[in-house]
Amino acid sequence: MTNSDTNSVSDASNAIPVLQIKADQVAGRASPTLFGLMTEEINYAFEGGLYGELIQNGTFKANPTNAVFWSAVGDAAIALDTNQPLNSALNVSLKLDTSKASKNSPVGVASGGYWGIPVRPNTTYRASFYAKGKSFSGPLTVSLESTNGETFFASGTVPKISKKWQKYEVTLTTGGVAPSKENKLVVSTTKHGTVWFSQVSLFPPTFNDRANGNRPDLMQLLADMQPKFLRFPGGNYLEGNTIATRFNWKNTIGDVAQRPGHMDDGWGYWSTDGFGLLEFLEWCEDLKMQPLLAVYGGYSMRQQHVDPGTNLDSYVQDALDEIEYVTGDTTTKWGAQRAKDGHPAPFPLHYIEIGNEDWFDRSGSYEGRFAQFFSAIKAKYPQLQLIATTPVKGVMPDLVDEHLYPTSEGEMEARAHEFDKHTRTGPKIFVGEWATRVGTPTPDMAGALGDAAWMTGMERNSDLVVLESYAPLFVNVSDLTSNPRSERSMQWPSDLIGYDALTSYGSPSYYAQKMFSNNHGDVVLAIDSQNIPTYTWQPPARRGRNGTQAQPPAPRQVPSLFFDATRDSRSGMIYLKVVNHNGTSQSVHVKISGVNNVESTGEAVVMSASSPDDTNSIQEPTKIVPVTSTVEGLGTDFTRDFPPYSITILKLHSLPENYPDLL
Ligand code: AHR
Repeated sequence: MTNSDTNSVSDASNAIPVLQIKADQVAGRASPTLFGLMTEEINYAFEGGLYGELIQNGTFKANPTNAVFWSAVGDAAIALDTNQPLNSALNVSLKLDTSKASKNSPVGVASGGYWGIPVRPNTTYRASFYAKGKSFSGPLTVSLESTNGETFFASGTVPKISKKWQKYEVTLTTGGVAPSKENKLVVSTTKHGTVWFSQVSLFPPTFNDRANGNRPDLMQLLADMQPKFLRFPGGNYLEGNTIATRFNWKNTIGDVAQRPGHMDDGWGYWSTDGFGLLEFLEWCEDLKMQPLLAVYGGYSMRQQHVDPGTNLDSYVQDALDEIEYVTGDTTTKWGAQRAKDGHPAPFPLHYIEIGNEDWFDRSGSYEGRFAQFFSAIKAKYPQLQLIATTPVKGVMPDLVDEHLYPTSEGEMEARAHEFDKHTRTGPKIFVGEWATRVGTPTPDMAGALGDAAWMTGMERNSDLVVLESYAPLFVNVSDLTSNPRSERSMQWPSDLIGYDALTSYGSPSYYAQKMFSNNHGDVVLAIDSQNIPTYTWQPPARRGRNGTQAQPPAPRQVPSLFFDATRDSRSGMIYLKVVNHNGTSQSVHVKISGVNNVESTGEAVVMSASSPDDTNSIQEPTKIVPVTSTVEGLGTDFTRDFPPYSITILKLHSLPENYPDLL
């Protein structure tokens, strides 16, 4: 499809823009899998986010010298102890000296969770830990309390503690309390002795009641987007700063008490890997999306790489094993391991990405590394589609992953037509990370407008751009300011969905994604256009080589109106998407040819704002949301006003029998 097939942009004028939709001219197939998700451990996305676990540093490995995120209760003495490990994976424990306890002054340990612990009314929580005692046999009291210790929500007792490591579990059920997050979990005693703890855990109810499952409100926000795939586990999180700190999938499966965890040094905090490979896959299963598995490709971000050849063989084998873990039946080694881990059925898998952003590898080794992974994976799994993270020459990847993070809606809108003239003879395109980075911690309406403009370009060209995923997906907004950055709950300041311990919200960009993903047909229609308005955008000056400020580039004319149309072959419904960048209402004349009849009554899904700075937040989670209404006055020739700063999807009813040749 070329630009002239779809639209032509003229200079600004006062003439009303005209969109001529050719309902009988299919410009391309709309990719059924276009809209997906990308995820990694950043901004406390899983730990302190999607992953239901409420206890931060429950394995005591986040810091080698201090029991960070834990505090002593009463006159307790607490310390990390490497002499009493639970096992070789959890090789440090928390030692509690209770010798100053008394009947009226219990001592113990407390966790404040991830910037709070959510307490909800009439809710049952599962607390568990490993413990062993010396001159101490219990009992231990486990309680959910307010941070100031004034309110007790629920408590339970472990009557006896063994001299050997043993797992203990307690259920805690709250009464009719008000929801709150300024709370802590306390494990305490009035008896003397020494007790060690490992793998302390607290789970609220989870989505689909999975034992090691996910937070329901975040899962519901994602389910509402109807995503078709999930790209995981990164991003930088896949690579790590060093080869040693990559996402080493074999360390992330099985019993959580046997997972060593690792430093997520790309983003500066500890990952317990309680949210591991199987949890990613079960997340896909719960939301009926296919996994798009990124395998470690032999490059980590501090310019460490593995040379192609025999040195790389073990990494290629790791990837093959990983694919077998995902897809193999239970007669295979890794399929059997998956069954042992609780999931006998294989998962569907079509896409494998090799590495992440390998254009950063200055050694130039990606050509060879990609080719080695490519031939080994294709030899065993010829049906899999392989994604390169940057163009390569030796072999032709099935797809290439492109990333873009413009910092203004102008820059994003200036790029919205870049796929229109793209060659169709090379690999397909996966826009695996992108966002208009305007607004923090989550994008505002300006960001959403840039995103929507960009999405019209991807959808219009989705014969070529077959997959897209916004990034980053999640941000815990509890701490946006602490120094260093690694101590904040946010490392990357423009993210699709925000939350704290208790509540969550979708940004305007989230709703733009949802609107596009929920409303589209299976074919892209050709559109001619006239009188498309433009505005003047000043591209930013790029820094010169030695830090000097370069001359600003010349200002550019950028369209202020974006659009595309798709049609559903089965229902005949035409979905016209229109984005109005301007702060004034925009009249548009819509003509639809190639169909006899379009009903005058249809539906409009509209998201608009009174200012581009308007946004959603924990305090105002739904300030900017799409509104669906029935509209009149549609047909094959109509004029409609599109509100200021708006994204609109018009659902136009035509009948499938109008397109007999296309059925
Ligand atoms: O999305 C944030 C980061 O941006 C990703 O981890 C990385 O792939 C990209 O540079």
